[in-house]
Amino acid sequence: MNVLLIGSGGREHALAWKISQSSKLGKFFAIPGSPGIADFAECVENISVSDNAALVNFAVNNAIDLVVIGPEAPLVNGLVDALNSANIKAFGPTSDAAQIEGSKIFAKRLMKKYGIPTADFEVFDDRDAAKNYIRTKGAPIVIKADGLAAGKGVIVAQTLDEALNAVDEMQTFGSAGDKIVVEEFMAGEEASILALTDGKTILPMIAAQDHKRVDDGDKGLNTGGMGAYAPAPIVDAQIAAQVEEKILKPTIAALKAEGITYRGCLYAGLMIVDGVAKVVEFNCRFGDPETQVVLPLLEDDLLELMMNCADGTLPDKKLSWRDDSAVCVIMASGGYPKSYRKNLPIDGVTKAKSLGALIFHAGTKLVGNELVTNGGRVLGVTTTAPTIPEAVDKAYRSVEVIHFDDVHFRRDIAAKAMCS
Ligand code: AMP
Ligand code: GLY
Repeated sequence: MNVLLIGSGGREHALAWKISQSSKLGKFFAIPGSPGIADFAECVENISVSDNAALVNFAVNNAIDLVVIGPEAPLVNGLVDALNSANIKAFGPTSDAAQIEGSKIFAKRLMKKYGIPTADFEVFDDRDAAKNYIRTKGAPIVIKADGLAAGKGVIVAQTLDEALNAVDEMQTFGSAGDKIVVEEFMAGEEASILALTDGKTILPMIAAQDHKRVDDGDKGLNTGGMGAYAPAPIVDAQIAAQVEEKILKPTIAALKAEGITYRGCLYAGLMIVDGVAKVVEFNCRFGDPETQVVLPLLEDDLLELMMNCADGTLPDKKLSWRDDSAVCVIMASGGYPKSYRKNLPIDGVTKAKSLGALIFHAGTKLVGNELVTNGGRVLGVTTTAPTIPEAVDKAYRSVEVIHFDDVHFRRDIAAKAMCS
């Protein structure tokens, strides 16, 4: 099977690593790929991931059997629709199904209509009306831009002033912020469940926990994610069953009832409050960094399952998992998620690999033969071990041997799992 992978982050490196283990894999390309993905796939950098016509052409010309799409933007932008029109199979939802992430209003209204548990909310296109509503509700309260805002369109306001300012800040997200959702604040513990689906059958993966804030103790700004671990003990068998029966199955059925077949990975971001799981958000793709801890524990052939999702032939079985835990520590550029320096030389990756870590590249590039930083999140250092404390210990031993100037990482990844 010839495969084209779209994307360049740590999630896509983890996908490439797992896909490369499939006995079904023929030729493997990535657009644009990364120095890490280049270990497994031929990387093609001169095609934009937003140019659907050029991507379809590339797939046709290279006899691609399956296109695997990592990030949300090409999904929302209709890449799967364009590929399918040219009779090329793709792993990922069509643009109407990707609205579940592309429009928070679409997702919230769907959940409300079909009784899927989530925070109460109201939608506004008028800022004064939103502010008046917020004044009646008080803080804490959550303000969200409707559209994609690169993970920055959500403000959890602790005070009334912050909430009122947040309404004005939504304007900085361009058209994504034209409409806003004001949502009830949920206090609880978060977990992410990724599920593979062909629109009929749903195979949930083990739960992971992300660390969204930039600093230890969940302090500082929200980021794309500073680390993760799996399995997350907060999701016990009872919660996992609840998520499958009350959230995943009803969501796929709700979309179906709206005339939409969802195929690909459905990511449920959950808040667990007193033993009840509610949806914080849906994403239409694998999570990052969650994918970097979930895939190293998966025993099944991911490529085969992805083809089954695209084909509508996903087997009704349980996925198989290694009886281990995985921990990922993100090494980021100092300053991230605000401004940071790039092009700083990275040392120690080979040494860290020799200690048994998987090093997923999130934002790197090669200048000549030298690996340098090229993003906010630079590397994901993932290790597996029989227990979370052992995996944590191993991960930080690998982190210690990697160096670049200004490096920033959290020192408390998976701490919550160790004290519970
Ligand atoms: P989202 O992009 O929707 O995942 O939101 C980013 C983060 O904001 C989530 O991971 C939560 O930590 C937080 N958040 C979003 N919605 C709520 C809510 N209703 N209550 C509490 N926290 C929330
Ligand atoms: N880790 C959060 C996300 O992938 O959206």
